[in-house]
Amino acid sequence: MKRIALAGTALVAATALALTGCAGAERGGGTDEGSGEETTGFEAGSTIGVALPDKTSENWVLAGQLFTDGLEEAGFEADVQYAPASNTVAEQQNQIQAMVTGGAKVIIIGAKDGKQLATQVQAAKDAGAYVIAYDRLIENTEAVDYYVAFDNFKVGQLQGNALLEGLEANAGHEAPYNIELFSGSPDDANSAVFFGGAMDVLQPKIDDGTLVVKSGQTDLGQTATEGWLAENAQNRMDTLITSTYGGDTMLDGVLSPNDTLARAILTSVQQAGKDIPVVTGQDSEVESVKSIMEGVQYSTINKDTALLVEQTIKMVGQLQKGEEVEVNDTEQYDNGAKVVPSYLLEPIIVTKDNAAEAYANVPSLLEIVESYN
Ligand code: BGC
Repeated sequence: MKRIALAGTALVAATALALTGCAGAERGGGTDEGSGEETTGFEAGSTIGVALPDKTSENWVLAGQLFTDGLEEAGFEADVQYAPASNTVAEQQNQIQAMVTGGAKVIIIGAKDGKQLATQVQAAKDAGAYVIAYDRLIENTEAVDYYVAFDNFKVGQLQGNALLEGLEANAGHEAPYNIELFSGSPDDANSAVFFGGAMDVLQPKIDDGTLVVKSGQTDLGQTATEGWLAENAQNRMDTLITSTYGGDTMLDGVLSPNDTLARAILTSVQQAGKDIPVVTGQDSEVESVKSIMEGVQYSTINKDTALLVEQTIKMVGQLQKGEEVEVNDTEQYDNGAKVVPSYLLEPIIVTKDNAAEAYANVPSLLEIVESYN
């Protein structure tokens, strides 16, 4: 298996979790375990800070609302802040610092740039607060206590598999298939992990000639989408079409790391008058779920934000009571300074075929799926 370099350290991608679908290899059959760290508890009703990045996808918008409601329901004071779209890193640093000064007991952080928060996270620790990295890892600091996320490497593997399956089912011809690869923003630690998971599946098929990346752009750096911005993906796709897919040259598939970028890629291809390729995604955004049901976008990933927020609030409750915090992975997420004890949830692949089943517990999306039946 490929190893992913994260923060200059090898992220030990000996992903027992990703391969077996359970976190149990060394932990007694997939049962949850405590982090083994002492927690001391704090007063009920304390303030909990939640620092979220800019709203680059629907999941971030939803998370803010769910944290506000869920923390208050659990008896805490919630201080939920988004970093604005401009000057995002500095603003997020200030917001976290203000949460520390304001006496927050736990600070939950969806990092804009996980490499630029070490000072603020250390300040939180020094003030006696706990820090939970939410969805995106915070790098190069020992002061981050826990990480909670969907299994990012597995997300990538599911995307790679979906691309392959979609090509076999829909390309309308036998292999080789022409594909292009897109990855997420370089300041988000998840981007390398998603891409690593996808390439774990796709690289052998590139090596054996089943897949051809016609542009030759297969590195994380070449495929990156700065800021996770749709316009950047659309521009890169436009450029690739001009440089590589002129005339009748077929573009059979595109690995897209999320739905926002998938739709931008599809717009570019459609504007160029090309046939619709198999395009992957992630996040189950409303417009992408519709697109999948209409047979345009091929796949997405269901990472139910409600479950992730619920798990995070559960951790906060354990910290408040001074209990051991439940984690299920203590190997995968080396942030460059330590392996961060993590609770990883299982992502679910969604195509038109399994959408009703995949969204059985997400009423708003199920309703959309059912409206196409
Ligand atoms: C999240 C993805 C999301 C992306 C852009 C990532 O860190 O894990 O779900 O698509 O950020 O917002």
